[in-house]
Amino acid sequence: MGRLDGKVAIVTGAARGTGAATAERFVEEGAQVCIADVLDERGEAHAQALGEGVCFQHLDVTSEQDWAAGLEAVHERFGLVDILVNNAAILDVHPLAELDVSRARRILDVNLIGPMIGTRSVLADMEEKGGGSIVNLGSIDAMEGMGWVAPYCASKFGLRGFTKAAALELGQKDIRVNLVCPSGGSRELIQGFVSQLQERVAAGEKIEPQGLEGGVMGDRRIQPSDIANVILFLASDEAAFCHGSEYLVDGGHTAGHIWFKID
Ligand SMILES: NC(=O)c1ccc[n+]([C@@H]2O[C@H](COP(=O)([O-])OP(=O)(O)OC[C@H]3O[C@@H](n4cnc5c(N)ncnc54)[C@H](O)[C@@H]3O)[C@@H](O)[C@H]2O)c1
Repeated sequence: MGRLDGKVAIVTGAARGTGAATAERFVEEGAQVCIADVLDERGEAHAQALGEGVCFQHLDVTSEQDWAAGLEAVHERFGLVDILVNNAAILDVHPLAELDVSRARRILDVNLIGPMIGTRSVLADMEEKGGGSIVNLGSIDAMEGMGWVAPYCASKFGLRGFTKAAALELGQKDIRVNLVCPSGGSRELIQGFVSQLQERVAAGEKIEPQGLEGGVMGDRRIQPSDIANVILFLASDEAAFCHGSEYLVDGGHTAGHIWFKID
């Protein structure tokens, strides 16, 4: 028996990375899943690879029309929604002095307003079903600051606030809302981050990262499945009393700032 047997889930940004791993774990545990993303080819391919219980829906999380169309498609194919994972996000890397206002607005739109529209969209379904679980993807950048990613950081702190406000409103309806905060993203997210820095170095800038002393857990690096397993727990009935909180998946990154390494 799967932990999500009979459940219907929407996972945004699930064409790749953490979202893709989450969709896969959900299917293994018996859920029917809608992969909602703007990457059509990858999303379709991933949905097909995962089998009959999965569909792909082109859905830009900032678009109310896309959410309405997506929800209609899910209703037709699977029925009412029990689980929403607000995972889609974007990131730019540059110092504050180079802030591009339209890009900053887009980051806030995708990372913060998108989950708000998504949450509103599934509320009626969850109420009708007598409950549900909404899992938002934060970051360690929702807990502490990070230089050169100010709009991203602000969006994730904002999402943490939204998670708590939504939890207060929805708890009585048994709709649980939580935030998962990983450190380090998918290969593509990190590659995007690194390429933006590489372009600057190639253009002659001297950039020295500060504060990267190494991981508390040594060389162990985060895997999408590390995050997907925590999302799965929060989405499932095993997390019945977990509500309005943040769950760090950061290998001890935010545990403190001094430790003694034993070789
Ligand atoms: N340290 C960190 O900052 C950190 C670490 C891990 C994960 N995360 C968070 O986990 C989540 C997943 O990260 P990832 O590493 O898998 O990233 P990723 O870039 O590999 O995947 C993000 C997905 O979101 C999709 N997407 C982007 N804009 C969209 C839009 N407007 N509408 C719908 N889909 C859209 C992309 O196409 C992509 O498939 C994100 O919310 C990310 O911020 C953060």
